[in-house]
Amino acid sequence: MPKVKLIISVQRFYTNKIILITGGSSGIGFALAQKAIEQNAKVAICARSQDKLLAMKKQLATDHLFIFQADVSQEDQCQAFVEASIEHFGQIDVVINNAGISMRALFQEVDTAVLKQVMDINYWGSIFTTKSALPSIIQSKGTIVGISSIAGYKGLPARVAYSSSKFALQGFLEALRIELLHTGVNVMWVSPGFTASNIRNTALDQSGKAQSETPLKEDKLMSAEACAIIILKAIAKRKRSVIMTFQGKLTVWLNKFFPSLVDKLVYNHFKKEPDSPLK
Ligand SMILES: NC(=O)c1ccc[n+]([C@@H]2O[C@H](COP(=O)([O-])OP(=O)(O)OC[C@H]3O[C@@H](n4cnc5c(N)ncnc54)[C@H](OP(=O)(O)O)[C@@H]3O)[C@@H](O)[C@H]2O)c1
Repeated sequence: MPKVKLIISVQRFYTNKIILITGGSSGIGFALAQKAIEQNAKVAICARSQDKLLAMKKQLATDHLFIFQADVSQEDQCQAFVEASIEHFGQIDVVINNAGISMRALFQEVDTAVLKQVMDINYWGSIFTTKSALPSIIQSKGTIVGISSIAGYKGLPARVAYSSSKFALQGFLEALRIELLHTGVNVMWVSPGFTASNIRNTALDQSGKAQSETPLKEDKLMSAEACAIIILKAIAKRKRSVIMTFQGKLTVWLNKFFPSLVDKLVYNHFKKEPDSPLK
């Protein structure tokens, strides 16, 4: 994986910017927080596990990191996270809706509570956090970011709730972008390809248990650090959306013109995964 470096103008953009990241204690969120702090930003993160938050605080050992325990599926906890972050740092310049979980089970077999849990975190968590942060973001003429996925452009089999949550996230952000057109706020989403993280270990199975192992070779995937650098550059450049990988760009492009062909390609791709639920 080639090393991606932040350029000088991007470093200048982040100096003293206040960035809120949901789900900042692992994977892409952790890397975003770490890289933004390296560029002199001040970062507030939330996650459910206080132990992981405290470990991160200890590891990064900086006043530029504010940690807050919150479950983004709960509106009052999102409000509390945003309020505490504003009290701590004074304002918000960028909110990154990153917290997310995945699932792997056929719709026919999955408990509907699993589908709801994924939507509550990935979609409603983004709604609640953005709603609370909006007044401060409007004041700072800042940026609202959603961490989406190729699953937000193409429905993926055995991941119905994950795809639904990312389609919904993009629909929400696009509508909000137009509402905020004359406010100076930028609304954007980014769609990483497969990135090394914990997300496949925590993905829920048909009964809502974490599957606890990844079907992919995580060390062959894009690193969370490389992914974070692409996202931070895109935020500084006030992009509309970014699809990060060639495979992702090809899928989205092909799907516009040959959706039935892409249905078959996607089916065959996911059928080959170890322990695929596709028969
Ligand atoms: N990795 C990929 O291949 C990939 C590809 C495309 C898009 N994405 C997206 O990237 C984002 C980050 O995922 P990741 O791969 O970095 O996963 P990860 O390593 O599992 O990290 C997920 C983070 O979200 C937090 N989180 C989960 N549920 C939460 C909740 N209810 N409230 C607050 N925080 C919560 C986790 O902490 P706690 O568990 O302690 O709460 C953790 O800090 C997700 O939106 C995902 O859909 C990932």
